[in-house]
Amino acid sequence: MKKVFIGAMIMVMSQFAIAGEGMWLPMLLKSLNEAEMQKMGMKLTAEDIYSVNKGSLKDAIVHFGGFCTSEVISSNGLLLTNHHCGYGQIQSHSSLENNYLKNGFWAMSKEEELENPGLTATFINEIIDVTIGALMGVTEKMSVSERQSVVDKNLKKVTDDIQRENYQDVYVRPFFNGNQYFAFKTTTYRDIRLVGAPPESIGKFGADTDNWIWPRHTGDFSLFRIYAGPDNLPADYSPDNKPYQPKHHLPISLDGVEEGDFTLVFGFPGRTQEYLPSPAIEQIVNDLNPAKISIREKALGIIDKYMRSDEEIRIKYASKFARVANYWKKWIGESQGLKKTKGIAKKKKFEKEFMAALPKNSSYRSILPTFEKLYKQQAPLAYVRDYYSEVASRNIELMTVVSISQRLVSAYEENGEKGYQSYKERIIPFLEGFYKDYNATIDEEVFGALTEMYVMNVDKAYVPSSLMGLRDVDSGLDNGRGVNFYNQTSFANPTRMFAVLEMTPDAAVRHIKRDPAYSFGKEWKELFDAKVAKPLSGIQFQLDSLQRIYMDALMKTFPNKTFYPDANSTMRVTYGQVQSYNPSDAVTYQPVTYLEGVIEKYVPGDYEFNVEDKLLELYDNRDFGQYADSNGKLPICFIGTNHTTGGNSGSPAIDAHGNLIGLNFDRAWEGTMSDYNYDSSICRNIMVDARYVLFVVDKFAGAGHLVKEMTLVHPKKK
Ligand code: ARG
Ligand code: ASP
Repeated sequence: MKKVFIGAMIMVMSQFAIAGEGMWLPMLLKSLNEAEMQKMGMKLTAEDIYSVNKGSLKDAIVHFGGFCTSEVISSNGLLLTNHHCGYGQIQSHSSLENNYLKNGFWAMSKEEELENPGLTATFINEIIDVTIGALMGVTEKMSVSERQSVVDKNLKKVTDDIQRENYQDVYVRPFFNGNQYFAFKTTTYRDIRLVGAPPESIGKFGADTDNWIWPRHTGDFSLFRIYAGPDNLPADYSPDNKPYQPKHHLPISLDGVEEGDFTLVFGFPGRTQEYLPSPAIEQIVNDLNPAKISIREKALGIIDKYMRSDEEIRIKYASKFARVANYWKKWIGESQGLKKTKGIAKKKKFEKEFMAALPKNSSYRSILPTFEKLYKQQAPLAYVRDYYSEVASRNIELMTVVSISQRLVSAYEENGEKGYQSYKERIIPFLEGFYKDYNATIDEEVFGALTEMYVMNVDKAYVPSSLMGLRDVDSGLDNGRGVNFYNQTSFANPTRMFAVLEMTPDAAVRHIKRDPAYSFGKEWKELFDAKVAKPLSGIQFQLDSLQRIYMDALMKTFPNKTFYPDANSTMRVTYGQVQSYNPSDAVTYQPVTYLEGVIEKYVPGDYEFNVEDKLLELYDNRDFGQYADSNGKLPICFIGTNHTTGGNSGSPAIDAHGNLIGLNFDRAWEGTMSDYNYDSSICRNIMVDARYVLFVVDKFAGAGHLVKEMTLVHPKKK
């Protein structure tokens, strides 16, 4: 008896132990996922997660500023998201006297909450399948561009036809590469105030060293509040606005997690490409990632050198450095993960199965060979595209001013003084912010090093002649005639740049056009547009439509397999379980970290690993209140098999009953290739434990009034 039972258990476990892959549309859970989710331990129904008619979990899930996720955690519109999602707002309220990044910020009453112009919070009211309308009149025989123009026309009509209240918006997005279309009816709130943020030593503990790393000890959270007009509807900021009353807010579990617990992550993942053919993955691993990694490595090395030698530079460059370092590190992990899990071989094997499943005369048989051919054609161009974008648009800061000045000149040439003035008004505040954190000495060194890499590593046909003329000599960048390029241009110097913008439009445009950086940038961009961007867009168009056909073919060829659409910044549910993993032979990573780990990593005074005295004191006294685990320790973070990506930051981790147990903020390095090839053996998302969030708010910050607003529950203690 017993043996049979254990055997059955193991079968069930192994069938579901790997569950985790997929980012599912919430309104399709009923038909596609509910049964599996319940087998994995979920006590909810699909209707509890997504319902149009009654309050459901989805009503607590909020697209934060369009780039992160957040969730409502009180009946007064309190919003929880990551520290790194609210970073810009926290920084914007900070000054040397009130340094909220360094010291944290806590509004002790509603009056102290801080307004954030431009920040939005968007709810999804309804998701509607509009595939039939979007593809009306589309036939197999149409050329790719004919199809495109029919679909574009349809989409306009489909969007217009959806009934909405005057405060609602509707957008339609393609799914499965344009084989299906869904409309999203939304309500966007515009008065979102900052309520609380821990100091960086908690919210960003471990900073770049620990970024993408498990085991992790970061309290990556911040609190905001949605304010509404008298009717509870969206309104512009006003002191008279009232805290928003949600249809649903997430209760918070005090019972924590253990290995094997069901977890659901609800949010707005940005972009994945799970169905790319093997030549595309080969290109990423062999050509594109190594190029991008090496360029950023060079730039980061230079910036780091200056940041370490000068505190003022460190502050100026902290946020830029973090942004550049974030994806530099991600790509390294991604390439390693793809190699380690044999991502390319797995794709190839799958492609063999696909071919084997096709009838002899199937028109689909040409798909993979055509991909092969197109990616071969595209490869050299894609390489230059990434090289150019990393060097010219992302890492040499001067190029930002170059491209702004190009647009200013076009505004003048196309729309005269009026066009010039209106563009100028927009760029002045931007440039003020830009120069505030700009150091021309660092940028000149980055320019020299990166353009040298470009000349060395990119085919001569794509190198502008003015770049060949520049030489990096001891005294800086030489224009080939003994004149320093960075001294010559006005763009690297705010005083000179603003003086140019003070001139009459006509004089300013003449001045800009004579600037050596302007002509240099113009030559480079024109060369790039003509020889790279244009031919590439032709090939990309063919690749995109072939990808749509391939997707359709996969779904038809494997009718029993359940496919999920790639992430496209729309609302998704992913589910899995809390689970350890083996990053390498003989090494196992436990799924939960504790405050002990913060203390182990503590380096007094260090900018990444410092710990506040108050936290040390709470630790010494084991003063964890109701937030300790059953073992008496304070949990910090945990991992699960949930399939997440950029944009899922700030997403709630929800338990089997619909309670908040954690806050998603990162992935483990070994598994960042999940954007192309999810593998449940090493792909883990990283969440802050909800109890650490509560502990910091209550015990560390003394903002217990916020905890009182929330609904705390004990789902495991019956
Ligand atoms: N890796 C996480 C994500 O992709 C967190 C990034 C923010 N933290 C940092 N140290 N840069 O967004
Ligand atoms: N850290 C990411 C974000 O900000 C999440 C991830 O890539 O896993 O959205």
